[in-house]
Amino acid sequence: MSLERRPTDPVPDLVSLLQGDDHAGDLHRTRSGIVLVTRYDDVVEGLKNRALSNRPGPFALVHKRNASIHVAADVANNLIAFQDRPEHVAPRRAMMRAFGAALAEFRPSVDELAQQLAERMFRRTDIEFMRDFSSQFASLAVCRMMGLPQTDAEKIRGWSTPFFQLFHAMPDRTALEALNRSLEEFRAYFAAVAENRTALPGRDFVSLLLSAQEDGDRMPVQAVIDNCMLLAADGVENVQTGLASSVATLLSHPDELDKLKTAIAGGDDPVVRGAIGECLRFESPGQYQLRNAIEDTQIGSKPIRRHEIVALCFGAANRDPAAFDEPNRFRIGRSGPRHLAFGAGYHGCLGSALVESELAATFRVLFGQGRRLALRDREIRWQHRVGHRWPEALNLVVG
Ligand code: HEM
Repeated sequence: MSLERRPTDPVPDLVSLLQGDDHAGDLHRTRSGIVLVTRYDDVVEGLKNRALSNRPGPFALVHKRNASIHVAADVANNLIAFQDRPEHVAPRRAMMRAFGAALAEFRPSVDELAQQLAERMFRRTDIEFMRDFSSQFASLAVCRMMGLPQTDAEKIRGWSTPFFQLFHAMPDRTALEALNRSLEEFRAYFAAVAENRTALPGRDFVSLLLSAQEDGDRMPVQAVIDNCMLLAADGVENVQTGLASSVATLLSHPDELDKLKTAIAGGDDPVVRGAIGECLRFESPGQYQLRNAIEDTQIGSKPIRRHEIVALCFGAANRDPAAFDEPNRFRIGRSGPRHLAFGAGYHGCLGSALVESELAATFRVLFGQGRRLALRDREIRWQHRVGHRWPEALNLVVG
């Protein structure tokens, strides 16, 4: 079975947008006015360019002028993912500090959680990895780090899917109304959690973020609540699918999988870390992130005009032959620059250390205990989404 990209596979909307458009050097301007940045060095430069803003653009539904009309716009404008420097700095620092401390508490039990879920999964004969393992692992991990009851994991999963619509164009009014309703419920949930943790703080992320109020990195309580929603949603969706595509990639490259198994058996952590990075490079769950040009600027020597929307294409950059030798080959021992699946710099993924722990734990329970796993289907079906390369399902057989 091959998991190589086909032209229609990864982000069909981008691919079709590209056809017949203006390819000026290495930047591609689509007919709808989006500038696609696909080379590794250009994406890295774009991530550092302060003229490329994360704030919702003037025509976006989630622009702050709509904050009193749509909950979605109110929420978006509180999220660090939609902020620029300098307002982004203090809340990001507070979140990183709280996340680091909460992860230090949780990390020792990541393996134990993976083991429990794997034992339950291997009792089944018809394993669908996302249903039986990765979606539960991702949401239970988030619940534990945030000090939420494990029984709330399903509710968190239910709110996470619509939450991601904040980052995309809204298809219609019905979708917007459904999103607003879901965000109201999600907010009410975290408002109750925040109230409870203010009265009775613990060592979890929510308590630690609330207590950052006293360290000079003050965030309004509503911003704490909304960023807890961001963290929970980010912790679920990309992870449940990223674990699945990593497992699928390894199972379809048996020679590389054998190297990983040897490394797990010998406790060779650098090789395991290399495998994690290579899985994320090869099948990047987040394919691109949008930015708005708030002034005329350039990437390399190529001009970008004010008000243009720029897509920093992490998935394409991770396959750039100028950065990665034989980029379409999956090799767990490769050297070269760090992959961009987590972005980098100011807005780089806040949860990357958790993801890496979850992937390492997953590899150990799947590939380090002598089981013979195989893919049941000849082809992986990918969800039809803009911006994400997420499998629909991953059926496995145990030999
Ligand atoms: C495989 C899983 C994941 C992938 C591929 C991923 C990818 C990314 C990427 C590409 C960005 C940067 C976006 C940009 O430059 O605008 C990002 C940001 C972020 N991620 Fe992740 N992520 C993953 C898992 C997680 C987890 C587990 C958490 C937390 C529990 C998390 C929390 C965040 C947050 C809060 C941000 C916003 C940071 C900011 O804007 O300052 N992510 N993620």
